[in-house]
Amino acid sequence: MNPWRGREISETSKKKKKTKMRSKKRKNSLRRETTVQKLFETCKQVFSDAKAADVPPPADIERLKSILDDLKPEDVNLQPNMNIFETTETQHPPIAYIHIYESNKFSIGIFCLPASGVIPLHNHPGMTVFSKLLFGSMQAKSYDWVERVATCNKHNGKNLQQGLCHQLARVHVEKELTAPCEASVLFPAAGGNLHCFKAITACAILDVQGPPYSESEGRHCTYYQDFPFPRFSDSVELEADEDVKSYVWLEEREKPKEFVVYGAHYTGPTIVGIRD
Ligand SMILES: [Fe+2]
Repeated sequence: MNPWRGREISETSKKKKKTKMRSKKRKNSLRRETTVQKLFETCKQVFSDAKAADVPPPADIERLKSILDDLKPEDVNLQPNMNIFETTETQHPPIAYIHIYESNKFSIGIFCLPASGVIPLHNHPGMTVFSKLLFGSMQAKSYDWVERVATCNKHNGKNLQQGLCHQLARVHVEKELTAPCEASVLFPAAGGNLHCFKAITACAILDVQGPPYSESEGRHCTYYQDFPFPRFSDSVELEADEDVKSYVWLEEREKPKEFVVYGAHYTGPTIVGIRD
């Protein structure tokens, strides 16, 4: 037998052995892949080319949503009896934010609300946001802008403070959510781009934002006050079959003083590549 052939055979069998070992290692590491690791990897793929106002393709939205649908509090090491969910403050308890990851493409973090904690009405300009209630119950309300309908500096004929505008928005959803439930997704111009939450019990909401807020790129978080539709409504007429309760006027406001958010550490499973 050609010695080279023999050598080739023995090299081949070594190679096969190595390949087998590598694939076994890969299989083991895949078996060990945690749900948050899977979430992080999928976010990297889905938001790799994300620019403001870019909405990922429907298949990518579904892929990411289905991971979040299955995400459980234990996957990120959270339980309702942890200190961050307890408070003696019943009016406006401070809210913890667990930062997990942020790049210029996407961010992952968890809002931890004690009972009666409120995240006031705010927007997500040019962003796609996935929200997953991990545990607890909360009241959720969201709106989308009605295009080009705004009234500025006037309220029933009287001048308002200079620059004060009211823009028309349509209610997207107003409901109570109780975990376990599916993740929700909002888009730049649909799906409830403006939302607010009030915790009925202690609750945890994991948010994936793509791209995240960025002052330098013009995606800042603005807070709003909502007013029932009949106010400031001189200039707008609804179709006969439209319900006034489905509409509100929104007015920009400063970040509410009582909305206090502090940082808390992520104590869930290590996520490989998170420092990229
Ligand atoms: Fe939000």
